[in-house]
Amino acid sequence: MSHITRASITAVGHYVPETRLTNQDLSQMVDTNDVWIRSRTGIEERRILTGKGKGTSYMAARAGREVLLKRGIAPEELDAIIVATVTPDMSFPATACLVQAELGATGAWGFDLSAACSGFLFALNTGAGLIESGRAAKVLVIGSDKMSSITDYTDRKTCVLFGDGAAGVLLEADNEGYGLIDSELNVDGRGWETLCMLGGGSLNPTTHDTVDRKMHYLHQDGQAVFKVAVKGMADVAVEIMKRNNLTGDDVRYLVPHQANQRIIGAVARRMGLGLDRVMLNISKYGNTTAATIPLCLHEWEHELRKGDRIVIAAFGGGFTWGATYLRWAYNAAPVPTNGVENSEKAELDV
Ligand code: UT7
Repeated sequence: MSHITRASITAVGHYVPETRLTNQDLSQMVDTNDVWIRSRTGIEERRILTGKGKGTSYMAARAGREVLLKRGIAPEELDAIIVATVTPDMSFPATACLVQAELGATGAWGFDLSAACSGFLFALNTGAGLIESGRAAKVLVIGSDKMSSITDYTDRKTCVLFGDGAAGVLLEADNEGYGLIDSELNVDGRGWETLCMLGGGSLNPTTHDTVDRKMHYLHQDGQAVFKVAVKGMADVAVEIMKRNNLTGDDVRYLVPHQANQRIIGAVARRMGLGLDRVMLNISKYGNTTAATIPLCLHEWEHELRKGDRIVIAAFGGGFTWGATYLRWAYNAAPVPTNGVENSEKAELDV
């Protein structure tokens, strides 16, 4: 029995909007087609949050509520809420404040964390620090992004990639050897221009001109990001395995950020993992930025067993990237009768 206090994931919850935007729909909007999108990215459809007055906090609060319900705890028991997002409802107040109010988490403090597609991974590690130090007993960590709010639906290079969604986890202390064991997190700000949103911040405050120049939409140099993402994510995942003496056989699941099926395939191969041990749901949701990893955890929760070794890996704008090795801490309740959606065992070719 270990006496080291670690932070364990003890519940997972999610929210995805009902509206689907398919490859077919997009081919009516821009010069693209289903074959290109599927073969280059693995995406078939994404979810879009529609309706006035619904932003990232709307999805985050719903994901958070499911976490609390599944763990069977009251919102007042939360000590902190961290929301990873690049699409906050507003610049300020933080989306975490809106989620806190919506949940009625009267005992919690909280904040937003901006690390693009590595947002959930960075927030998970930040929350774990609060648990390990004894400063908090229950931390809600949510990844939520309404990517449709910053996507230019006349730009075929980006509009096919992103979708909306949210998911989150509860972190609690563990002294039995489960939870987050090791992490390697990185940033390299020199890559910022290849994936960014130039307008709306203090550098380029919103004006008619910034809107005319479409600076309120995300911009990505896809090929440049692709190259560094494959290397960055694979290097860091392999490094985490090496220093914890893990072989491919020891890892029950890789939980990769879902930006491109080809990137995920390359990372899995470098780790020596077969596709049966890769969480992959990009075909259904596209790239939901901070939500991809917890959405996977939600979907595979019923397959995970106490003690399973898991490697989470992400790469995103900034650049930000990293990997975390953890041991899963619980066996989920039996699969609900309405069934749990599961992975399509798609081909992963680089
Ligand atoms: O999430 C955080 C980090 N982000 C990533 O990890 C994303 C990394 N990048 C990628 O996943 C890929 O680079 C993309 C999926 C974004 C693009 O795939 P690609 O294989 O790198 O394509 P490309 O940008 O090199 O474009 C190839 C061709 C171009 O045509 P030409 O110049 O060869 O005639 C594009 O204009 O495909 C064209 N193209 C499209 N064609 C049909 C670009 N977008 C589309 C489209 N439909 N939607």
